[in-house]
Amino acid sequence: MDFRFTEEQLMIQDVARRIAQEKIAPSAEHHDQTGEFPLENIRTLGENGLMGIEVPAEYGGAGMDPISYVLAMVEIAHADAAHSTIVSVNNSLFCNGILKFGTEEQKQTYVRAIAEGKEIGAFALTEPQSGSDATAMRCRAVKQADGSFKINGKKSWITSGPVAKYFVLFAMTDPDKGARGITAFLVDGDRDGFHRGKTEPKLGIRASATCEIEFEDYIARPEDVLGEEGHGFKIAMGVLDAGRIGIASQAIGIARAAYEATLEYVKERKAFGQPIGAFQMTQAKIADMKCKLEASLLLTLRAAWQKGEAEKSGGRFSNEAAIAKLTASEAAMWITHQAVQIHGGMGYSKEMPLERYFRDAKITEIYEGTSEIQRLVIARNETGLR
Ligand code: CAA
Repeated sequence: MDFRFTEEQLMIQDVARRIAQEKIAPSAEHHDQTGEFPLENIRTLGENGLMGIEVPAEYGGAGMDPISYVLAMVEIAHADAAHSTIVSVNNSLFCNGILKFGTEEQKQTYVRAIAEGKEIGAFALTEPQSGSDATAMRCRAVKQADGSFKINGKKSWITSGPVAKYFVLFAMTDPDKGARGITAFLVDGDRDGFHRGKTEPKLGIRASATCEIEFEDYIARPEDVLGEEGHGFKIAMGVLDAGRIGIASQAIGIARAAYEATLEYVKERKAFGQPIGAFQMTQAKIADMKCKLEASLLLTLRAAWQKGEAEKSGGRFSNEAAIAKLTASEAAMWITHQAVQIHGGMGYSKEMPLERYFRDAKITEIYEGTSEIQRLVIARNETGLR
């Protein structure tokens, strides 16, 4: 057991911190207010290897380990959560699945452009009537005589949907088989039969564009199938295990930004003749914020380490990822709530970023598996019951 980071890990953390502070943080308020997609910053992140952190160099990425991914994500989310959502989906939900299950040709075609930040990737699982219960999907892919699939249906809440070129899509190929009847496809948003709906107005992460997408007789060629036919649900769940580490890291970045702002404020702001940080009620909050932050980071690094081990042994890290995401997202919500409270009126004002941190933190308890789903995954693992 060694708590020190390697030189490579520190190097990528440093690159991410520099871009986050120099490019992302100064425009975070603008992106939050306008909801404008930060394409230029995403290109810069891609040029510096941050859109494919764990992607090997031969496919256009930085070739780093899962710990590096956590460190970079925390820095980006610390500057702006919306940017980190786009980074997380590209890295964990898009590139990760294709690297694990894709053919050599799929890796060259789809991973390279996304890892280099030249194109944006997206993950299409959720539907209007199926979120947590992912197997209840209605999107159908019907096999044709020539081996291709005709796809019809709707997907909702697609992160980066309005701007993405490529999508990992999950569709039902054999409804009688439930989870075992789902297949994963690689979809090109420029092809016929693919339509984008309106962009969703959201409470937080406003610059990460989200929309519904629709398939109308979209033809997926046999070479567009990712992994084996009928293995789509397991691919989705495995990819989400990695995604949950990304969201835990995002939660830590948001929470750390709120915590640091609060630490400064309690030393400067005076009430009743002394800095408010000298009051025990404030001190208790600071201590609890710090503990939750540290615990979240350690659990997330542990999950990332476990992911690296699982990649060597073929094992799973579902429980570690769920524990990290649940702990970090609930910590972020609690910490940003306390940060707003300690800042009082200034915490509620749009003149300071505290209310943005509070709004941004909420999504980490919802997407890539709600806190309720994380509890279900953990409890099933612990008890062996379902
Ligand atoms: N890795 C690999 N395989 C897995 C797995 C995992 N993590 N989890 C389950 N499986 C396998 C099971 O072993 C089982 O395999 P067999 O058929 O061989 O036995 C199969 O998948 C079915 O598993 P379950 O019976 O456990 O499935 P379930 O229907 O009970 O669902 C669930 C389990 C945990 C509730 C799951 O549906 C889930 O995680 N739901 C949440 C979905 C989610 O996270 N959605 C987020 C949307 S994406 C998003 O937010 C992206 C974005 O844009 C930011």
